[in-house]
Amino acid sequence: MPALSDGFAGKVALVTGAASGLGRGTAERLAAQGARVVLFDRDEAGLRTTEAACPGSVVVVGDVTAAADIARAVDAAAALGKLTLLATAAGLIGPTKPLPEVEEAEWDRLFAVNVKGTWLTLKAVLPVMRDAGGGSIVAFASAAGLVASPAMPAYAATKAAVISMTRSVARGHAAEGIRMNCVCPGSIQTPMLEATFAGAATPELRAAREAEFRARHPLGRFGETHEVTEAVVFLLSDAASFITGTALPVDGGRLA
Ligand SMILES: NC(=O)c1ccc[n+]([C@@H]2O[C@H](COP(=O)([O-])OP(=O)(O)OC[C@H]3O[C@@H](n4cnc5c(N)ncnc54)[C@H](O)[C@@H]3O)[C@@H](O)[C@H]2O)c1
Repeated sequence: MPALSDGFAGKVALVTGAASGLGRGTAERLAAQGARVVLFDRDEAGLRTTEAACPGSVVVVGDVTAAADIARAVDAAAALGKLTLLATAAGLIGPTKPLPEVEEAEWDRLFAVNVKGTWLTLKAVLPVMRDAGGGSIVAFASAAGLVASPAMPAYAATKAAVISMTRSVARGHAAEGIRMNCVCPGSIQTPMLEATFAGAATPELRAAREAEFRARHPLGRFGETHEVTEAVVFLLSDAASFITGTALPVDGGRLA
């Protein structure tokens, strides 16, 4: 069995949401193990910071809701070699309100980025991987996609959709040598989590929200970026060669 330390030398990866948080961390881990990584995000400044830590990487600025932008990323990958690794981390959080209070525009935006964006990326990449003889994909779902989430029901619905796509792709494309899994993080210390807390109206409400979120995790703390990206690169690697269609909680025991 290949060890994880065998790395990704000579492989080409596409990482969406690579300008921040978990996408950036994933790109850095892949690059550190030898992959050439196409870094995709709508935030160019953030991408440039990631690029500096990812030798041999290529930046593509774009929006995951635009098929033409994703096509540019796939073209950039083709210029590096066969695209066989994909991590879809681009995503939005919120709103923190019950379903009747969610605005239609908020719902549409959330589904556009988290669901349509993931689908458009898969739509562009799956045929390329099939032609390459196979590949490995990790999507970013959430613990919120596996259990009830009264605080963020709209977000949870988008992540349940990502889990469903993961399972369908795993079954539907296994014969093409393509594996797909997703990670279901609990609350991880990234700019996204900070944005969730920053939306609180007062410092007291913010403190209460932080305490409530932390208490969901039996390990008694929020996760750190590397604790998720370790799982992502494992699932992407040949060490996970018999694992496909899983929704892996990385959640400090939240779902236990
Ligand atoms: N941080 C957490 O606690 C947590 C928990 C569970 C799941 N997740 C999921 O993990 C993924 C990464 O989250 P993160 O915490 O790193 O968030 P983050 O906000 O730090 O990074 C998300 C990135 O996605 C990019 N992005 C957003 N919309 C985009 C679009 N339309 N086109 C291109 N890029 C776009 C942003 O610019 C940003 O760089 C997300 O899908 C998120 O839902 C995060």
